[in-house]
Amino acid sequence: MNGTDSTPWLRATGLTLSFGGVKALDGVDIALEPGARLGLIGPNGSGKTTLLNVLSGMYRADAGSIVIGSQEMVRTGPGRRARRGVVRTFQHPLLAPSLTLLENVMAGARLSRRFLSAPDGPADDVRTRSAEMLDLFGCGDHVHQLPGEAPYGIRKMAEVARAAAAGPPVLLLDEPAAGLSSSERQELVRALKEFGDRHPRSALCLVEHDVPLVSALCDRLMVLNAGALLSSGETTAVLRDDRVRAAYLGPAAQSGGTDDSDDRSASGEKVLD
Ligand SMILES: Nc1ncnc2c1ncn2[C@@H]1O[C@H](COP(=O)(O)OP(=O)(O)OP(=O)(O)O)[C@@H](O)[C@H]1O
Ligand SMILES: [Mg+2]
Repeated sequence: MNGTDSTPWLRATGLTLSFGGVKALDGVDIALEPGARLGLIGPNGSGKTTLLNVLSGMYRADAGSIVIGSQEMVRTGPGRRARRGVVRTFQHPLLAPSLTLLENVMAGARLSRRFLSAPDGPADDVRTRSAEMLDLFGCGDHVHQLPGEAPYGIRKMAEVARAAAAGPPVLLLDEPAAGLSSSERQELVRALKEFGDRHPRSALCLVEHDVPLVSALCDRLMVLNAGALLSSGETTAVLRDDRVRAAYLGPAAQSGGTDDSDDRSASGEKVLD
């Protein structure tokens, strides 16, 4: 996929999806330009994962449009979207259980030949690139382990490494910090910043409940509430938005950072200044 500097890699409009009586997405628009660093936040059940599922082709929207590059792709499946450069991670790590972490990341790295004009080169290049990516995400001591043999935090980081390894145009991350310790979260922020420096045209869309973490990485935020867009714009402005504070951050919003506690659970990380 190519594109000029400001043409979005991906532009979706009017995305709507209901499950029975629940409107999980209600007319959501999103655009991911080259180099975008977008945080997607909102209460539990507000539709964040559903949006990533619809963008990546895991779920089909009831209505709306998804243009990737210059092609309408709302009716295509996840394989075609990935080959067009839309790569994602899952809220719960999903690595191939019979492959080592290195082999998992190599599978991710090989995707790049699908959406980059250059072939990915000899197998050794893929291996070297994959090992470097695992190193970047703090998994260097675990490359030959199977996912089942690796600690949870390493599995989470390896999944991000697998998605990042191809340097995709669009990288969608669903709660990559969930369940990570404070030090692992700092490692994740450092690694994603470094990834962003190495791939300045990749667009990053990060779903997270840890507001300080998302603020450290993203210059723009979108806030979902009950499947609809509540607020969007520059990060600091969105976090000051009264509607966001009322619906998500709550009156107990307090100062904090990514280093204020260990062993956090999957959500409830809403601290801000
Ligand atoms: N496969 C499904 N079948 C039925 N309902 C679903 C399905 N996936 C999501 N939903 C519903 O859609 C709504 C949005 O869910 P979603 O998982 O997208 O929320 P979320 O913002 O990712 O929440 P969390 O922060 O807890 O991960 C919820 O009411 C959820 O129960
Ligand atoms: Mg979710």
